[in-house]
Amino acid sequence: MNNQITLYYKNAMAEIVGTEHGLEANELEQLGEQITSIAKQIAQDRQAGKLPYMDLPYQETMCRDVQHLAGELAGRFDNLVVLGIGGSALGNIALQTALNSPVYNLQSDRPGPRLFVMDNVDPVQFGALLEMLETQLDRTVFNVISKSGRTAETASQFMIVRDILEKKLGPDRLTDHIIVTTDASGGILRAIVDADGYKSLEVPDGVGGRFSVLSAVGLFSAAMCSIDIEKLLAGARAMDERVQKTNLTENPAALYTAIQYCFYQKAKPLSVMMPYSYQLKDLADWFRQLWAESLGKEQDLIGNTVNVGPTPIKALGVTDQHSQVQLYREGPNDKVFTFLEVERFDREVVIGPAGTVNDLAYLAGAKMSKLINCEKLGTEYALIQSQRPCLTVRFPEVSEYTVGQFIYMFEMATSYMGALLNINTYDQPAVELGKHATFALMGHKDYRELLAKIECVAKTDKKFLI
Ligand code: PA5
Repeated sequence: MNNQITLYYKNAMAEIVGTEHGLEANELEQLGEQITSIAKQIAQDRQAGKLPYMDLPYQETMCRDVQHLAGELAGRFDNLVVLGIGGSALGNIALQTALNSPVYNLQSDRPGPRLFVMDNVDPVQFGALLEMLETQLDRTVFNVISKSGRTAETASQFMIVRDILEKKLGPDRLTDHIIVTTDASGGILRAIVDADGYKSLEVPDGVGGRFSVLSAVGLFSAAMCSIDIEKLLAGARAMDERVQKTNLTENPAALYTAIQYCFYQKAKPLSVMMPYSYQLKDLADWFRQLWAESLGKEQDLIGNTVNVGPTPIKALGVTDQHSQVQLYREGPNDKVFTFLEVERFDREVVIGPAGTVNDLAYLAGAKMSKLINCEKLGTEYALIQSQRPCLTVRFPEVSEYTVGQFIYMFEMATSYMGALLNINTYDQPAVELGKHATFALMGHKDYRELLAKIECVAKTDKKFLI
């Protein structure tokens, strides 16, 4: 069990939160058979090459290529800017927050370049970064990440950056400062790589953005910033062994999913993930996308309209105790809570003396790690008193090895949940219309018809404007 993340689920059971809001053991048992057959189906699909994300932790060549490129660039750059969005950005952010210091970018002795992940097209944010980098462009490298190559946000960032680099450093130096991560053979970006000679990494075939953090998509920026990507993949492999068990109680991903599925069926469609660790906060954000984009679907696999999908919510302990917990305890009982808890923090801070204030003496000399974990327990206790079901994923420590386990466990949980809901977990048809509307509004010639339809939304009707 050493260094394994664990799932504690007693506080989601009826014996703790009552029969109306908790689960009975037999409800989980009833799902056992279904989960076993889903696990077998997933194993078969994997064998048939239909779920390549599951094999990413074993891709030694990919890992070596990433390490080789990161090694080649080591020491040459002070800044690494990732341009990407959604699954092409959230994993990078999550790994950096989890595995490097919260003040990494400010450290003079940091072990790699500063990292900026730009996953928006806000002119103030992007413009400010470019202005800051203006005098440092020769020490800045950009990693453009887009599987499709046609994502408007990333494409526009790339076009801005390429233009600036060309003007400031000259066309000959573009290839030193741009690294592209994209589809191995298709798409606009691959064509640009082939034409312009940029260094490139591959998004493996059949791996969707939100399942790609353990590919070059997430690993390159991690390796550049001295995160041990081999240990990360080793953690994922260790979890792979556990999630191959077909027995529900031995397989943490299957058990987590079964619990979430039961609550979803029992009128708790909201699923809150609340890390009590700043390091883990962006993993909750990464998971939010994975769960939402994979599971929120209009149709099931045979075309019935089902409109399913649990709503993932991220909160941060202890910060959001002072923002959300009032609602979580006394608002609608429609949520299941997943805490992320850390047993051994990377560092310790001891609280100073209380001075003459007796009321604060209970805090004096205590460890901050104790305080944050007591706050987690306190909140969990309070939620349980209000019959709110709670789960805990416990990290013995936050390290590459445990983060790798977490990523793999929750990717698998997503696959299980999609199978239980009988939907296509791996597509995202509903995001297309908004993208096309943006193309139309930005003047794309192929979307003129759509532009006419959008008029009614684009025009402000003053009757409704105050
Ligand atoms: O998970 C997904 O598939 C999406 O979130 C994509 O990652 C996101 O839309 C970006 O796509 P692309 O990498 O093609 O630019």
